[in-house]
Formats: sequence, structure tokens, C-alpha cells
Amino acid sequence: MTQNQFDKKNQAWSALFSEPMSDLVKRYTASVFFDKRLWQADIAGSLAHAEMLCHQGILSAQDHASIGAGMQRIREEIESGQFDWQLDLEDVHLNIEARLTQLIGDAGKRLHTGRSRNDQVATDVRLWLRDELDAIRVLLVELQCALIEVAEQNVEVILPGFTHLQVAQPVSFGHHMLAYVEMFSRDAQRLADVRRRTNCLPLGAAALAGTSYPLDRERVAISLGMVDEHGVPCVCQNSLDAVSDRDFAIEFTAAASLCMVHISRMSEELILWMSQNFGFIKIADRFTTGSSIMPQKKNPDVPELARGKTGRVVGHLMGLLTLMKGQPLAYNKDNQEDKEPLFDTVDTLKDTLRIFAEMVGGQLNPATGLKEGAITVNAQAMERAALKGYATATDLADYLVKKGLPFRDAHETVAHAVKAAVAHQVDLSELPLAVLQGFHASIEQDVYDCLSLRGSLNARDVLGGTAPNQVRLQIARHRQRLAGV
Ligand code: ARG
Repeated sequence: MTQNQFDKKNQAWSALFSEPMSDLVKRYTASVFFDKRLWQADIAGSLAHAEMLCHQGILSAQDHASIGAGMQRIREEIESGQFDWQLDLEDVHLNIEARLTQLIGDAGKRLHTGRSRNDQVATDVRLWLRDELDAIRVLLVELQCALIEVAEQNVEVILPGFTHLQVAQPVSFGHHMLAYVEMFSRDAQRLADVRRRTNCLPLGAAALAGTSYPLDRERVAISLGMVDEHGVPCVCQNSLDAVSDRDFAIEFTAAASLCMVHISRMSEELILWMSQNFGFIKIADRFTTGSSIMPQKKNPDVPELARGKTGRVVGHLMGLLTLMKGQPLAYNKDNQEDKEPLFDTVDTLKDTLRIFAEMVGGQLNPATGLKEGAITVNAQAMERAALKGYATATDLADYLVKKGLPFRDAHETVAHAVKAAVAHQVDLSELPLAVLQGFHASIEQDVYDCLSLRGSLNARDVLGGTAPNQVRLQIARHRQRLAGV
């Protein structure tokens, strides 16, 4: 059989059509050049379907064996780059099925019994995304571990905590890092939740209404690992919904967007901290770029790009929501447009998580046997900055409260003290005792303990607070949590 005859014969609808599809329409409707990345899921889905058809007596053992062997050959061809992907065959599903039929004849044509590309593609995308979710989970753990490591090394390092980007109160740099660990741990929870709904089998819904063959859908679900945590098979329960539901793609992209937003916030801080005006950190040369005109420049391109790519992922979320909003039940060709945004979201998120895990946690240096992160903390610069903005003013107010003043009065009293310190261009801790006593007579020598940055930090020894004591407890909690993941 020539390739041409073969192609014609394999167009399931061709007998009905009096003229061939125009080249422009072919190109417009084809998806093979992006959906071919679903090939592994497509083969896995087909093998599970064939096994079940055979078990149910719908397909002979001989045909089942031929399908297995043919798929093995196709797998090898794809892996070695020898598979001839054809635009004429529209998508990954028809390309693989056509090649199978070319290899094994009629048995290949029997594979599609009780199945439609509508339930096939929905299954493939879910299987593919499920595996990607597992890879993303690992990357999120790596990033959290890297942040925890940096937190542990910097529990005692003090930086100014900001509100409104104005110096507010001193905080531990370790505490600051752990704030991001909280965000990424919520991202991991959200993605685990998305995985549960993704890992559910549409196959068996056929085109939209189910099929007249006695399929065992639960058997297929089990063989594809589409089971819940108790091993109970998870099968989409309404055929119309099964072929048209893309909630899992939207949920994933929403969770990915939020994760990117967290990375973007962190990026913004890294960019600020690296600027000369802050000088809090240095990012190693391998993560920065120079300027083609200004020889002195080192630019934080990685965090900047991550911040920029967040817009792109959020855009994909909007794209997918808009894709679905006007679609009647059940499958519509619109759904083919789910793939590129989904693929790009996965690629962007994975690359970004990987590069951040490496930037924060570092790679193993074979020469030293140590992991070298790309971020160096300048503890002196952070502490100097914390001393600048009257970051311990609240501590002075708290001190006066302990002496019996109502908080609002203490707040007012301290405002006067800050005003005086600003006028003399000194820190609160540099005002002589006599001057401080001028603001309130109850102030004694011990006031200087709470006016120091360290005193302020240690005082916040409450659950979730920035006292080094609490930060260490949190590090231990996170380590235990991640050991169980
Ligand atoms: N390439 C299609 C997609 O991605 C496969 C399903 C096509 N189904 C159909 N009835 N045209 O959605």
C-alpha cells in the first residue's frame, strides 16, 4: 500500500467528502506539531484500552498482541526521532493510529472500537498533566528545602521589615525566607488537590454519549493508575462532561499562576535587595548579565524574567477560561486550543522553579563537595538599614505600656521621641537617657535593651513571630513536614 492510499483510507470520514480539505484548512486545524508531545500518554491510553477490549472479549488475543508489538515499535521510532509525523494526519492520535495500522494491518483499525478521539484526547491530556504535576511537586520540595537552608544560615541576621516599603520593624532574614516557604507549601497543597481531579478517566465516554460495547472502564482506570489514595478507580461519571471538561487544566493554570505570583514577589525583593541602594544581597555572576553599553552593570535578569513570565502564565489562565466560557456541551474543536497554554504553563513553571531552586540552594561544586547557592547575604548592610528607619519605635511604645501607659498614649509619646531623634539625626537608641526621660518619667536605663535591634527581635517570641527561637521552631516543623512528602 502506498503512503497516499493509506492516508486516504485512514480518514474515517473521507467517504462522505467529495473534495479534499484545502491546505490552508489542514494547517489551520492540525495540532500534531504541538500535541505530539502527548505521544507517551496516547500510547499508554491505547494499550490500556486494548487490554480491556481483549479482556472483555471485544478484541482477539492475537489482535491485542499485535497492537502491543506495533506500539512498541512506534515508541522506538518516536524515541529515536525516526517517526514521520504528518500534518495530513492532523493530530498525535491519528498519526499514531495510522502508523499502527500501517505496521499491523486490520488489528490497528480495531483499536478505535468503543473509543473516540474526544475521550482519547481528554484522557491523554490528563495523563500527561498528572505526570507533570508529579515533577512539579518534586521541584517545589527542592525550592522549599533550599529556602529553609538559607533561613537556617540566617536566623540571626537582621533586616528591616517593611510595610508600604517604609522601614517598619526589624525581622530575622531567616523569618523572611520562611514566609516564602509558607507560600510554596500552599502551592504544593493546591497542586496536590488539582492532581486528584486530574487523575480521573474520561475514556469510555466515547464521542459524547458513552458506547454500546460492554467496556470495563474501571479496569482501564486501574491500569492507568487513575485511582484515589485508597486504590479506588476514578472514572468520569458523565460522558458529556467527560469529553468536554477542562476544569483540571484551568485549575492547574490557576494554581500555577499563583505559584508564579509568589515567585514574582520574591523576584521583586531580590531585585530591590541587589540594587546599590539596598545592597542587601549579591547574586552570583552566573545568574546575572551585563549591559552592552554600561560596563559597570550587573543585572538580575533571572528574577526579572521570572517576574515577566508570571504575566505570561496569568495570560494562559485568562486564555483557558475564555476558551471554555461559550462552549455548549459536549466536545468542540475549540478544545484543541487548550494544549499550547497548558504546555507553556508547565514549561514555564518548571523552568522557573528549577532555576530558583538552583539560585537559592545552589548546585554541588565537585571541587569543594559543597552546595553553592548563588545568593550572598550582606548581613552588615541589612543591619545598617534596619538601624535607619526607627524600626524599634514600637518596642519603645511596648516598653511604656509595660510601665502602665495605655498603648495609644505610649504611641503618641514615642512619636515625639522619634521626632526629636529625626531632628538630631540619631537613632532612638542614641538619645541620652535624660532626653528620653523628658518624654516620659518612667523610662529607665533598661530601655536600651528594647531599643536594640536584637532586643526587638527576641521580644517577638510568639507563635509565628520573628524571634530566632520561633524561627528555629518553624524550620524544624517545615523539615519534618517535607520529610513526610
Ligand atoms: N486534536 C483534537 C483535540 O486536541 C482531538 C480531538 C478531535 N476530535 C474531533 N472530533 N475532531 O482536541
